[in-house]
Amino acid sequence: MKKLTATPSRRKFIEKLAISGAAVAGFPNIITAKTPSPHFLKREKKFSVNDNIQVAVIGAGGMGTADGKTAATIPGAKIVAACDLYNGRLDAAKERWGKDIFTTRDYREILARPDIDAVIIGTPDHWHRQISVDAMQAGKGVYCEKPMVHSIGEGTAVVKAQRETGSTFQVGSQGMSSLGNEKAKELFEAGAIGELNYAEGFWARNSPTGAWQYAIPKDASPKTVDWDRYISNTTKRDFDALRFFRWRNYRDYGTGVSGDLFVHLFSSLHFIISSKGPDKIMSTGGLRYWKDGREVPDVLLGMFDYPEAEEHPPFNLSLRVNFVDGTSGTTYLRLVGSEGAMDVTWDDVYLRKNLVSDPMDAFLEAKGSEMEKAFGERKKMLPPKESHYQAQKGYKGAHYDHFSNFFYGVRNKKMVAEDAVFGYRAAAPALLCNDSYFDGKIVRWDPVNMVLK
Ligand SMILES: NC(=O)c1ccc[n+]([C@@H]2O[C@H](COP(=O)([O-])OP(=O)(O)OC[C@H]3O[C@@H](n4cnc5c(N)ncnc54)[C@H](O)[C@@H]3O)[C@@H](O)[C@H]2O)c1
Repeated sequence: MKKLTATPSRRKFIEKLAISGAAVAGFPNIITAKTPSPHFLKREKKFSVNDNIQVAVIGAGGMGTADGKTAATIPGAKIVAACDLYNGRLDAAKERWGKDIFTTRDYREILARPDIDAVIIGTPDHWHRQISVDAMQAGKGVYCEKPMVHSIGEGTAVVKAQRETGSTFQVGSQGMSSLGNEKAKELFEAGAIGELNYAEGFWARNSPTGAWQYAIPKDASPKTVDWDRYISNTTKRDFDALRFFRWRNYRDYGTGVSGDLFVHLFSSLHFIISSKGPDKIMSTGGLRYWKDGREVPDVLLGMFDYPEAEEHPPFNLSLRVNFVDGTSGTTYLRLVGSEGAMDVTWDDVYLRKNLVSDPMDAFLEAKGSEMEKAFGERKKMLPPKESHYQAQKGYKGAHYDHFSNFFYGVRNKKMVAEDAVFGYRAAAPALLCNDSYFDGKIVRWDPVNMVLK
């Protein structure tokens, strides 16, 4: 078998591991060794009455409600207010969280309340920047849904607001708080797939709701919907229920399939390999099937060049979304290296090795040469070719963990992993995919300084 030699970036990577204390000796046995998982999760077992966190949901639609429901299961957290622009959502919030909760159509009334410690922002994307900045300036902890911002130029304001206010700010790509992502990070850092050279991710759907054709409530009208407020920061138009309830299809409010779905894959990938992001972004695609007046493609392919960084070698990433996928329902993130590959989800990791024996394995090295010297060739002890790591039954999941991390940050006035800088670096290549697609160009991005080149 060809013995792999360490390339410069692999050498650098190994040196870095040695320096950082992640034992290089752990390499050979990474598949079987019972090494403890790094403790990214800061889940608190105890909290006092003073640690109670009063939370408001701003944008109490599908995800805002899911976020509020998960938040309410974390010990000490309570939903006390909701803001939305559609009456039906406010009525539903009262039904869910109690008729005494404070409700409003104006998020500034939420921010003005001293009894609210933290807000969840579950509005469409075109409101994320402004509400995030205003909420941090009002001294609230902020959990903002992904993508952090609606267009590339908006990220700086959120990063600045977080730096200036010191607020705990978390973007809602919950996958990166998951056991699956944490395990993948541990395996990657221990060199389980060798030298990373390629990654890919895929999102496939094949249904009307999967393709964003949500039901329009029967009572939708300018009376039940605060349309003027909804469009107050974008193009002025007459009331249009489709633009309100199916906002993802329109560029004034949504960020297309890349802002909706690629961004999750970027967040997980960047977390696992500690990356700041790609420097070259290209995308293509088309509107193939869901021709319902939408302004964005339903099939999108993105290609990304990641430059060499201290944390990883240079590599290529390929992402796809297909909303007309006859096989349907598949999503994955795969990291491919010189010695193996990992398929990563939020709950599990499949690790496949291509090496019959590991040249970095000190045991093999020692035993092989000892015996071979005396008796000639000797067969080797092989590591498993495939390992499947799975979260234990009863695992509460990424969403619960992400909120645990967020509330830990709010209680202890600490930054969390998916802060504004991380959120911007994950959103940027997704947003730039749209720029590449619509302008028909390759986009150059400086992921370190977070500016267009
Ligand atoms: N993390 C995830 O897995 C995940 C999943 C789905 C959606 N999301 C994100 O959550 C956000 C919301 O998506 P959704 O599917 O819940 O949409 P939705 O349409 O179901 O809900 C959005 C709600 O925001 C309200 N709204 C609009 N503008 C507002 C404003 N200025 N102030 C207050 N309320 C306002 C709307 O009335 C609506 O009820 C998006 O950014 C989306 O990308 C994240």
